Amino acid sequence: MLVSALRPKDHTRDTGDESLFEAIATDLLEKGYSICPSAMPANITEALEDHLQQMDPDLFDPAAVGRLNERSRNRFVRTDAICWINGESHAGRQWLDWAASLQRYLNGRLFLGLFSFESHFAHYAAGDFYKRHYDAFRGDANRVLSIAVYLNRHWTVEDGGELALYMDDDDTTGVKVTPLAGTIVAFLSEEFPHEVLPASRDRYSVTGWYRLNTSHAGRVDPPA
Ligand code: OGA
Ligand code: MN
Repeated sequence: MLVSALRPKDHTRDTGDESLFEAIATDLLEKGYSICPSAMPANITEALEDHLQQMDPDLFDPAAVGRLNERSRNRFVRTDAICWINGESHAGRQWLDWAASLQRYLNGRLFLGLFSFESHFAHYAAGDFYKRHYDAFRGDANRVLSIAVYLNRHWTVEDGGELALYMDDDDTTGVKVTPLAGTIVAFLSEEFPHEVLPASRDRYSVTGWYRLNTSHAGRVDPPA
């Protein structure tokens, strides 16, 4: 049987991003992470950038760390500010639709069982950081796949602000990702410790997490 016949045809009907989704799927299968420069559809990156510029800075809150019941602000761990994306803006809607297409594709291709998606804008001012961390903890099994898309034009190595993605707890070198507009990074949330290094200028990203359905009867699991 042809491999393509195994895959439902309509995964990417709405965006036509099949080759990108396939590249991400293959990377996840082979390495557990994927780094794709100049990959995000330009119209979505531009819409998100434009939207960011118009947003009231008051909409951004200092980011919190920790699990649901123990969430707190910890300026030693992370200093960025975030704004959750709920799809009320056109740009936010475009992004969520794209993320949903990727979710359908990965579920068809890798059987990850991705159920829901949550995401936020993040603003790191010059000097801000997010120390080495995991996005999910083994056994918690809620956040399965992390994704980040960068929104910074003309970013150079001197600007810093890389995402350092470490292969395991012992890795101190990591793979460094320049947060240049259009770059997409995806990785398995439980597998890769990572950190955001300080930048010398404002750094903007959209970060999201695909989660399993961890709701139980009578108790719907809320987003973190
Ligand atoms: C996060 C995170 C990475 C980035 O928000 O959990 O690790 O490059 N972000 O913005
Ligand atoms: Mn993270």
